[in-house]
Amino acid sequence: MGIRAGPAAPTKSRSTPWVSLAGSGKGSGMDAITLLKNDHKTVERLFKEFEKAEKAGDDKTKSSVVGSIIEELSVHAAIEEQEFYPAVRQAVPTVKDEVLEGLEEHHIVKWTLSELDGMDPGDERFDAKVTVLIESVRHHVEEEEEDLFPQVRKALGRKRLGEIGDAMEELKKTAPTRPHPRAPDTPPANVATNKASGVLDRARTGAKRGAAKAKDKAKNKTETAKEKAETAKKKAEAGKAKGRAKVKAKAKA
Ligand SMILES: [Fe+2]
Repeated sequence: MGIRAGPAAPTKSRSTPWVSLAGSGKGSGMDAITLLKNDHKTVERLFKEFEKAEKAGDDKTKSSVVGSIIEELSVHAAIEEQEFYPAVRQAVPTVKDEVLEGLEEHHIVKWTLSELDGMDPGDERFDAKVTVLIESVRHHVEEEEEDLFPQVRKALGRKRLGEIGDAMEELKKTAPTRPHPRAPDTPPANVATNKASGVLDRARTGAKRGAAKAKDKAKNKTETAKEKAETAKKKAEAGKAKGRAKVKAKAKA
């Protein structure tokens, strides 16, 4: 599916063609390529963490790291697809093929992420799936950083990249945090679906974290009660031993 850069966005606030909205002037001013490269560094750190946990056979860490990978890559794909790729395609028509390839790579990554989303480290395919995901993302990052980004930097310039960076930074606050491989990945359709998915994903993540917190709290309570019972038992046994020693001492006397 190609990127359509012209149509007006479906929201009232977006009265100009959506690709020109990048740059509200309210962001940190980080340029788009630096922002995307920082995201790449974040996921690479997570990949290394996973590989370390895999070697150590640490399922708990593997599970939480994969949760973070799912969240990071879902947000990253959404902001790149909604703001960066369309703006780039509009300004640098010669990179059309690279952008289309990037979209296809995102699509495959989102499918893998959505499968991992319902899997457990105990599943025999879990590690293999994460390994393939890591290989795919590293390949995608290499292509973007070595081929696409230099061409884009040259063609767009600092000011425009700053505007797109601001728009992506803003979109990060509401973007989907879970993978949606069946959802549209080009404008204008992805503008509305990303917004709706972002709300649902964040509610779901919030509920999940709340449940995990409550579970931890209950576990801690049970452990504290067990420790208290153990201490009381030890005290009672010590008291009994003391009593028996007293009786023995009396009998000897
Ligand atoms: Fe990408």
